[in-house]
Amino acid sequence: MKLTDLDAQPYRSGGFGEIYTGTYPDGQPVIIKKLSRTNKSTAQLAQIQLEMLIMKRCKHENIIRLIDYICEDENLYLIMERATGGTLMESIVSRQHYSEYDARYFIQQILSAFNYLHRHEIAHLDFKPDNVVLKDMINQPGYKPILKLIDFGSCKFGQTQFVRQMTQGYASPEQLLKKEATVQSDMFSLGVVTYIILSGAHPFDFKNPSHMNEQIIKGQWSWNPAFDQVSDFAKDFITRCLKIEPSERMTSKNAMRHAWIENVGLNFKELELSRNQMKQFMAVLKLKSAFLVVKASIMVSEMVETQESGFVDSIIKVAGEGK
Ligand SMILES: Nc1ncnc2c1ncn2[C@@H]1O[C@H](COP(=O)(O)OP(=O)(O)O)[C@@H](O)[C@H]1O
Ligand SMILES: [Mg+2]
Repeated sequence: MKLTDLDAQPYRSGGFGEIYTGTYPDGQPVIIKKLSRTNKSTAQLAQIQLEMLIMKRCKHENIIRLIDYICEDENLYLIMERATGGTLMESIVSRQHYSEYDARYFIQQILSAFNYLHRHEIAHLDFKPDNVVLKDMINQPGYKPILKLIDFGSCKFGQTQFVRQMTQGYASPEQLLKKEATVQSDMFSLGVVTYIILSGAHPFDFKNPSHMNEQIIKGQWSWNPAFDQVSDFAKDFITRCLKIEPSERMTSKNAMRHAWIENVGLNFKELELSRNQMKQFMAVLKLKSAFLVVKASIMVSEMVETQESGFVDSIIKVAGEGK
């Protein structure tokens, strides 16, 4: 198969490559993510293969499904199901109503995806609002949107990760300090995202990245005034995610049993201030987001490149299976 068989049209540019919309031969709408293979180190090539392999293996309602891929000398194209409801924050600001109940419903789905990934020793490691999309946007009362986690470009499987990439503002203290990232790092990012979707504000000094990073490492944050309308259950949930020490954070399994998630605290109050703040936050994000991604610069040690080169071969081989 070739890209031209999919009637590919540019969608929007991502960080690493380009994104296209297209139609798969069976008629289903797809998104095609182009990953360039030129001028890449062995480690970078291996990380691209890992992204594809992990997506291929994941079968979960809240994780975007990889339908197929095209591997050419210069590029690898990931062909995945297309979610049409926009990213998480885009959908929140355009909804008719938005309450803590809705926010909780979103977080429940993310937790379900995380619990699946973490059970399989997969850490996502770049969890942020941009990397969550809505399956569709249906403006019907009572319609429950389905979230899909995307972008496995930074993921780690067991001890295996070839290139470290993170986004400042969501990355955990251990990621910022270049210590070992684990599934618990995702839980820190979840704390940040939960804070944002409930208040429309960032828990740390987002406008000033170096101050923000200092605060993250020291665990310095406070409640935005929008939290006056939010339940103590939700605040407890966030607090338990934003712990500096990975082992003190809730695990995804425990988080699923947290009172806020399980059932208590159904709260239908409109989060008006939060939504207004979110619009402003999104504007800041547009300006800043490109500067907050820290990639390739922190390369995996040469050890991984040499000692694990057998693994690189094997993931390429496994990824080729079933074609
Ligand atoms: N399957 C998909 N359905 C809908 N939109 C998608 C899909 N995959 C990616 N996108 C959109 O493209 C953007 C970039 O994709 P992503 O995989 O996150 O690439 P990058 O690694 O460059 O961040 C996402 O933030 C999202 O807006
Ligand atoms: Mg992304």
